[in-house]
Amino acid sequence: MGKGLYISKAVAVTCVVAAIAAVATIIALAVVYAQEKSKNEVAPPVTASPTSPPTPTTPSPPKEPWDHYRLPDSLSPVSYNVTLWPRLKPNADDLYIFTGNSTVVFKCVKETDLIIIHSKKLNLTKFGEYHAKLSGLHGATAPSLKKTWLEEPTQYLVVQLNGPLKPGSMYELFTDFVGELTDDLGGFYRSEYTEDGVKKVLATSQMQPTDARKVFPCFDEPAMKAVFHMTLIHPRETVALSNGMNYDPVNITAQDLIQTSFEPTEIMSTYLLAFVVCEFSFITSNPQAEVLIRIWAQRKAIEEGQGDYALEKTGPILAFFEKYYNSTYPLSKSDQIALPHFRFGAMENWGLIAYRETALLYNPGFSSTGEKEWVASTISHELAHMWFGNLVTTRWWNDLWLNEGFATYVSYLGADYAEPTWNMKDVMVMNEIIPVMGVDASASSHPLSSKEEDIQKPEQISELFDSITYSKGAAVLRMLSGFITESVFSKGLQTYLEEFKYKNTVYQDLWKHLQMAVDKAGIVLPTSVEEIMNRWILQMGFPVVTINTQTGEITQKHFLLDPDSEVDRPSPYNYKWIVPITWMKTGEAKPDYWLLDEETTNTNMTLDADEWLLANINTKGFYRVNYDSENWERLLAKLSSGHQDIPMISRTQIIDDAFNLVSAKMVNITLALSTTKYLDKEVEYMPWETAKRHLAYFHLMFDRSEVYGPMQAYLKKKVTPLFNYFKKITNNWADVPANHTDQYNQMNAISIACSTGVEGCKELTTGWFREWMENPAVNKINPNLKTRVYCSAIAEGGVEEWDFAWSMYKNATIPSEAEKLMYALACTRQPWLLNRYLHYCLDPEKIPVKDATSAIITIASKAIGQPLAWDFIREKWDFMYNEYGESSINMGAIIYGVTRRFSSEFEYNQLLQFKEDKAEQLGSASSALDQALEGTKTNMNWMAQNKKLVHEWFTSETTL
Ligand code: BES
Ligand code: ZN
Repeated sequence: MGKGLYISKAVAVTCVVAAIAAVATIIALAVVYAQEKSKNEVAPPVTASPTSPPTPTTPSPPKEPWDHYRLPDSLSPVSYNVTLWPRLKPNADDLYIFTGNSTVVFKCVKETDLIIIHSKKLNLTKFGEYHAKLSGLHGATAPSLKKTWLEEPTQYLVVQLNGPLKPGSMYELFTDFVGELTDDLGGFYRSEYTEDGVKKVLATSQMQPTDARKVFPCFDEPAMKAVFHMTLIHPRETVALSNGMNYDPVNITAQDLIQTSFEPTEIMSTYLLAFVVCEFSFITSNPQAEVLIRIWAQRKAIEEGQGDYALEKTGPILAFFEKYYNSTYPLSKSDQIALPHFRFGAMENWGLIAYRETALLYNPGFSSTGEKEWVASTISHELAHMWFGNLVTTRWWNDLWLNEGFATYVSYLGADYAEPTWNMKDVMVMNEIIPVMGVDASASSHPLSSKEEDIQKPEQISELFDSITYSKGAAVLRMLSGFITESVFSKGLQTYLEEFKYKNTVYQDLWKHLQMAVDKAGIVLPTSVEEIMNRWILQMGFPVVTINTQTGEITQKHFLLDPDSEVDRPSPYNYKWIVPITWMKTGEAKPDYWLLDEETTNTNMTLDADEWLLANINTKGFYRVNYDSENWERLLAKLSSGHQDIPMISRTQIIDDAFNLVSAKMVNITLALSTTKYLDKEVEYMPWETAKRHLAYFHLMFDRSEVYGPMQAYLKKKVTPLFNYFKKITNNWADVPANHTDQYNQMNAISIACSTGVEGCKELTTGWFREWMENPAVNKINPNLKTRVYCSAIAEGGVEEWDFAWSMYKNATIPSEAEKLMYALACTRQPWLLNRYLHYCLDPEKIPVKDATSAIITIASKAIGQPLAWDFIREKWDFMYNEYGESSINMGAIIYGVTRRFSSEFEYNQLLQFKEDKAEQLGSASSALDQALEGTKTNMNWMAQNKKLVHEWFTSETTL
């Protein structure tokens, strides 16, 4: 599951922002990701669960120390001396390997006759009978070795001794080893790419969370910090990089090799180590600067200037964080490298941050605004970790939410500093908060914070990297920063970092420092920071606050999208929260109100005849708001006659709350639909985008039914003014809108206008596409609009357009360009072209296997493609299962993608039949299938309940 999300973070934002929804190029797109993304796109009826809770630990208690997944506390590492030599050419057995040796100096803290150190998939050289050599330091005598072995299940090298190690004494353990330089994107791995038609191999690493142990034997836990002295041996034509600055390389005589050593690292965790051997080049702005900043990438990308944007922004963002944290960046350099194959979006290795290419490189001619934003915010996220995560590290992975949630939150502050006109703090609401509210409203969500003892195995650690950790983590920190003020928040942070630098913490340490800052500033809270915040992190979900403006009564209730779902996870706080309520009356902000109980009354919140009330201004709090129907009516009236009096993010929230409250059966669907009525006056991105995401679900449910006509007519009516607005501000489509979010909304305008048949839209897009077809060497289409334009032109066109796009896809040298085309190819309305495209998906000559999953899902996302894709995967299931296994094609994600429209008894039975037929060949798709069955039932219920109402509503709105 975790794996899916890693990808999702990278891709989800791109998707939302650049609206290339289902296309993401992904290495492993997991079902969870797809589900979470669906929350971004779709008005949720109650659909399948988000992230499932961490798997409970094994029931039977382990007996021996090496059966525990956690290291004993008897030894503590001090420093390592590691030499690694990756072979960039295969050996006689056609294997890529690396060799290495390592000496770890450690201190004995408690007497023990056992050394347990992580080691995974390493072939350790034997010295006599033993896998390691031990010696005592500073006069200590090392006991002799009794027995050594590799304990595979818990990933240890175990060294039994004939006598005890003495507390206070230091020892060193030497190992020599061979490992495989695999292409599995974990540990020390290789990446093969071509440069000017020549195959190249590079070696790089990815340790987090638990793969440092695959590279050399080490105490691979975040609290086992040490200093690392690294040396890399590598071919002369390559450069070697690691966390620290390199010393001058030394030639190794007689071989075409050089040896590069690096300055010792700071005291740090193993998961932050990094090594790269490659033939890349770099750019740097000022080699004399105190901190050397370099951007590394393939030569051509650097030559083309694709690293320039990253270079331009890194310095300012680093400076921003130094000021924000009041702490100097402690290293002498900051390298950032764009890797052709990378499992995640990016990784915050201290001093050598790794990125996938799309997260670091920006190509002005080809990249869209969304892609640019992704670069800025990813850099900002990873730089934020240099302090929060790297300098101060949580003790164990159970507090991952603090690390990732925090970096996610402050990445928007850093990005806002680097790009002040982008409104990144608003964008955070769109990218993180609104989507995760959909996820966290499920009965099977989980609390942000886990117990240390519940997270043991590597898989359990990986599962934690989900949207709750990232986005809800960011949301609750933003809420906290909101009620203690941003400056007090950063003051608390500064003393926290100062106290714990080079050490480890638990989240309570942060609460303590924030409390100190609150007290110092004289901020009055109803209770302590800890009391307030624990309710948000130790119980899953969030409340819906209902305000009755007739009586002033305020109540709170755990918000569940499916009101009938059972919550079987007990909460220490009984699913009650301490809720900071910001609110305004008729446009005038009122003093914050704290909701401390399940039910209270605040008579200030009662209204006179012409007043309206709005709570949770700008979604500062992580909760939803419901009102009495009278106030809802007044808010709707306000939207129609002066929507600017309601702050923009709140307009967004009104739409999002209303649609979600429908799912929870707390308001009628017509109320939710009514929140979209004012959109013909709205030009802002966030409200439009939110409405679009919700209506996407209506599309899925109705695009094959009689509701579709009136619905499209309604949308056409609403979007026409927006389309004309953009036509005007872009000088009849000649310019790009100046404002960042306007650029996003321009995409919405064109996409909705073209799909609903607004006059002038198709002519525009097909015209642009024609121009490109006539002169394929020059593509003048604005990169922001490419996805929409290609899609619309291919939908309108025939085989000629499709074949042109296909050949452009095959020739595309820029991955994002290929992605956009791959997405657009699914837009054709010709079944035979779609079918041919589906067949291409299983032909690696045509479509790389890594892209097959997203291509199939994209085809299935279209009304015409969906039944074709469903037939196709049923026919080809065995082939896919046997030929590709589960690593290269994500069968679960495909099931999810293909069944999202299912909403009838007939489709439900088809799914059941499929489950029965393929019982033996489902593998990891099995849970996706169960979720698809559940989702189908939900859709069926939703249809039964709403179809008629929705039909009538759209009809009446369009026949007025
Ligand atoms: N530390 C993570 C990368 C990571 C994720 C390592 C999962 C191991 C498991 C990094 O800081 C991160 O969060 N990367 C995000 C991108 C970021 C901009 C949200 C990613 O890779 O998706
Ligand atoms: Zn991160």
